[in-house]
Amino acid sequence: EALEKEGYDHFMLKEIYEQPKTILDAMRGRINSKDSRVALRGIEEYANRFVRADRIIIVACGTSYHSGLIGEYLIEDLARIPVEVEYASEFRYRNPILSERDIVIALSQSGETADTMAALELAQRKGAMIYGIVNSVGSSIARLTDAGSYIHAGPEIGVASTKAFTGQVTVLSLLALTLARKLSTISNTYFQRLVSELELIPGKVEEALKANDHIKYIAGEIKDHHNALYLGRGYNFPVALEGALKLKEISYIHAEGYPAAEMKHGPIALIDENMPVIVVATNKSAYEKIVSNVQEVIARKGRVIAVVNQGEEAISNIADHVIEIPDTEEPFSPLLSVIPLQLLSYHIAVELGRNVDQPRNLAKSVTVE
Ligand code: G6P
Repeated sequence: EALEKEGYDHFMLKEIYEQPKTILDAMRGRINSKDSRVALRGIEEYANRFVRADRIIIVACGTSYHSGLIGEYLIEDLARIPVEVEYASEFRYRNPILSERDIVIALSQSGETADTMAALELAQRKGAMIYGIVNSVGSSIARLTDAGSYIHAGPEIGVASTKAFTGQVTVLSLLALTLARKLSTISNTYFQRLVSELELIPGKVEEALKANDHIKYIAGEIKDHHNALYLGRGYNFPVALEGALKLKEISYIHAEGYPAAEMKHGPIALIDENMPVIVVATNKSAYEKIVSNVQEVIARKGRVIAVVNQGEEAISNIADHVIEIPDTEEPFSPLLSVIPLQLLSYHIAVELGRNVDQPRNLAKSVTVE
């Protein structure tokens, strides 16, 4: 086992550090900025179904549900197809309305999650096309679906999902770009800019990982708190949810993710000097609004840990701790902003002496209801 960890203390840390490579692997053969080409084979085969789709419904559980939410932002923003994202366990039991013009996409690292399988079976019975975005090759979901795309992240051992999340978001980005091209929903210039930028993401993830030592220091500062609040807007709202889930899973600290503007509808009542607030603030749109959300937290003595773009000043000047990551096109910002949150939860769990790779009560793959 020590060998398999390749010198890292835990599988989770190894998998976090693998992400520049696994994101590249998810894109391999599917994108080429030189001739401005993006192609997912699974989509090409069923191009007509996708182009005529009334709606895409994404079903998933856990971390995969969070990447599904980012998929909703990507597909609606770039390809203008209405998307709904559902917890598979809710979807399967609520008699959902489905037609043959709907496409149901399952996101699953293991390809074996019982609720996600059952949601797909239901969708298939109701005539929808079913598509899988899966990591485990030959898994049950991969075999059941009409078509799909593997994320090619390689085996993920740590129970807390990291590289599968960014692999899923990468494939969803490719999917949104493929559909945007087919439907001509974005200009050629913007399409080309996005394609070139996506190819730069593995290098930028590498750079984001350089904040590791600084993040380790911040982890020491906040590890003794009993609660944490994660805030984000737009593309970074699902990242806030994922950051909170990572902290809960491996450190057992209670954490909640919230859309930053919803804070005033509840969580603000909890903010005092004992509440660390992790703000993902790499957005360009609604930037001033995030700045004012941060000011509201500080006014109530909350301690702010901000994830910002390199060179950012407004939030950096007032936050307690700042983690800088490279800038990117907004639709791809989750691929970078999630990295410091993965590292933060990892270091907090290590400091607290938790079993990082096999946290209590959790399973890597939930094959029963
Ligand atoms: C479990 C795992 C999570 C995972 C979720 C969904 O809860 O601990 O890491 O996100 O199942 O699993 P899947 O394999 O379907 O992505």
